[in-house]
Amino acid sequence: MDKPKVVLGVSGGIAAYKACELLRRLTESGHDVRVVPTASALHFVGAATWSALSGHPVSTEVWDDVHEVPHVRIGQSADLVIVAPATTDMLAKAAHGLADDLLTNTLLTARCPVVFAPAMHTEMWEHPATQENVATLRRRGAVVIEPAVGRLTGVDTGKGRLPDPTEIFEVCRRVLARGVTEPDLKGRHVVVSGGGTREPLDPVRFLGNRSSGKQGYALARTAAARGARVTLIAANTGLPDPAGVDVVPVGTAVQLREAVLKAAADADAVVMAAAVADFRPAEYASGKIKKKDGKEPDPIVLVRNPDILAEISAERARPGQVVVGFAAETDDVLANGRTKLARKGCDLLVVNEVGERKTFGSEENEAVVLGADGSETAVPYGPKEALAETVWDLVAQRLA
Ligand SMILES: Cc1cc2nc3c(=O)[nH]c(=O)nc-3n(C[C@H](O)[C@H](O)[C@H](O)COP(=O)(O)O)c2cc1C
Repeated sequence: MDKPKVVLGVSGGIAAYKACELLRRLTESGHDVRVVPTASALHFVGAATWSALSGHPVSTEVWDDVHEVPHVRIGQSADLVIVAPATTDMLAKAAHGLADDLLTNTLLTARCPVVFAPAMHTEMWEHPATQENVATLRRRGAVVIEPAVGRLTGVDTGKGRLPDPTEIFEVCRRVLARGVTEPDLKGRHVVVSGGGTREPLDPVRFLGNRSSGKQGYALARTAAARGARVTLIAANTGLPDPAGVDVVPVGTAVQLREAVLKAAADADAVVMAAAVADFRPAEYASGKIKKKDGKEPDPIVLVRNPDILAEISAERARPGQVVVGFAAETDDVLANGRTKLARKGCDLLVVNEVGERKTFGSEENEAVVLGADGSETAVPYGPKEALAETVWDLVAQRLA
């Protein structure tokens, strides 16, 4: 089988060096990558590096190898175009259809999915001109990944950093796997919760659970690749932020409820993959609880936490909002799942069996997605991203 053809456009930002790592990941995972840098990009990383790492000649202009008509052919034959980093200038040119070098020509002749990974100073990103260009590109079906927050060129910190190359690679992989030119969650805002809450007993101890957050992150990543604006409410995960996703860190169930309700106000779908503690200690000891000589410890008294899934299902913030819950069960998995679906009032419930060496922390999952309409979708054992894609397929059907 022919390798998928990827065009890696590199424009002139300081983060161009990170595109070398993205290029390696793409080639090592079986993609045929043609790098098309801009003339400015070559100030940061030279043509020799791109050519040696990709195994293809590199040119910035339409005037090289004219007999092969590269200004048309490269775009026409691509299965995916990813521009990383995408400068302010490149977003403007792409939004306005300029064609003054090889990359901008390629963007106009490509009929495959196009992904932009912008990187620039916060002021440039937030400028209304850039925001309007991004909106134009998204409206036309391009996936524009939100920049990450962090250290920028020099001593500045803020939004505008190129997301981690591994995260950009994941977006590319998912977009390629779906092979769609029109992302089906485009224009949608989705909220995903992931991880596990921690309920503090004292300043050093908490009641927690084994959830790693990997399923929630897979949901966030796949939704972003399908064009959605994603808010990820992350409870104690320690995982790198997925590219293009707004991450809201939380600790306890009460904090998670607040963050979910706020984000859900304008959301089209809410997927509650986080493991939320049902109970929390009735009292929080402001000092560390100490052993008392010869005495048994005091029992821990628990109180119920709010039932967030039931609450958002009952009081939909928007008409037609789709609510998805997760049920982690250790026995009688399907029967318990059906009871829970009815009790919570959500539209879909992903039911999976959990245990010490099952699901928690692993890269794989196996589940059945129960629908309030009586549907049942079995997802065989496989990567958590495959389950995530099925969840979004079912959500997209309901949104349509
Ligand atoms: C040291 C340096 C770093 C730069 N970093 C960025 C950047 O991160 N993002 C950006 O949009 N522009 C950045 N610029 C400005 C662009 O290089 C400039 O707008 C250029 O015209 C972009 O050309 P291109 O879009 O054709 O690659 C930087 C310029 C310099 C000199």
